Amino acid sequence: MTKVISFISRKGGTGKTTNAINLSTMLNNLGHKVALIETDTNYTLSTLRKMEVFQSETAEEPAFEILGSDDDRIAAELEALKPKNTYDFIVVDSAGKTTDEGIKKLCLISDAVIVPSSLTQNDLLVTYQTITDLSPARDLNADLRIMVLPNRIHSLTKIKTIQDAMENLNAHVLNVAVPQKNLFVNFSTILAEEQYRDIAREILKQLGDGQT
Ligand SMILES: Nc1ncnc2c1ncn2[C@@H]1O[C@H](COP(=O)(O)OP(=O)(O)OP(=O)(O)O)[C@@H](O)[C@H]1O
Ligand SMILES: [Mg+2]
Repeated sequence: MTKVISFISRKGGTGKTTNAINLSTMLNNLGHKVALIETDTNYTLSTLRKMEVFQSETAEEPAFEILGSDDDRIAAELEALKPKNTYDFIVVDSAGKTTDEGIKKLCLISDAVIVPSSLTQNDLLVTYQTITDLSPARDLNADLRIMVLPNRIHSLTKIKTIQDAMENLNAHVLNVAVPQKNLFVNFSTILAEEQYRDIAREILKQLGDGQT
């Protein structure tokens, strides 16, 4: 059945959209059929994609579908989409200000929640809060995997340092890190870098899809 991977965080600007795009692109590169749903009411991704397609006369088939939704509709839409098996993965890029109710409903239908977090004290505190808030959903959805994705990590930082900084988080801290990159700022090319392959693989492994 279709697996739902939701990017959630209680703070804006932690890297949800950036990583949702890169993960979707890489999952597509790995041969999976992917849809990316954004609940951001600004519809950043769809607008971006439309502009790109509009600008390019030789637009190829998009790597993955981008669908718009919102907090109130997303859970019901996923419930309807999941059993249809149209996609191998649905990646949800949730809005910066998701409501408690919205987060709870999304968690119940998700197979994995990914919380991107840098190592700044502010991000770590918010990540702690986000995971605490997600705990009740874990009681209701025993299969839910909550993962922290270290994001904006300096290239010289060791994985051990990251694990130590995040050890008090009641979630699986992924054994990979997204580097702080200038290139990520320009995400309009929607091309995942080669290094994102390891990150996608690690996420799939945690989802029990390690064979890919
Ligand atoms: N690994 C990274 N390296 C460099 N810049 C990054 C990285 N991750 C995110 N950014 C930058 O940080 C900013 C916020 O990232 P992004 O839009 O992905 O966050 P978000 O969680 O989706 O924010 P919002 O909650 O507002 O939707 C963007 O300018 C993005 O390019
Ligand atoms: Mg965003």
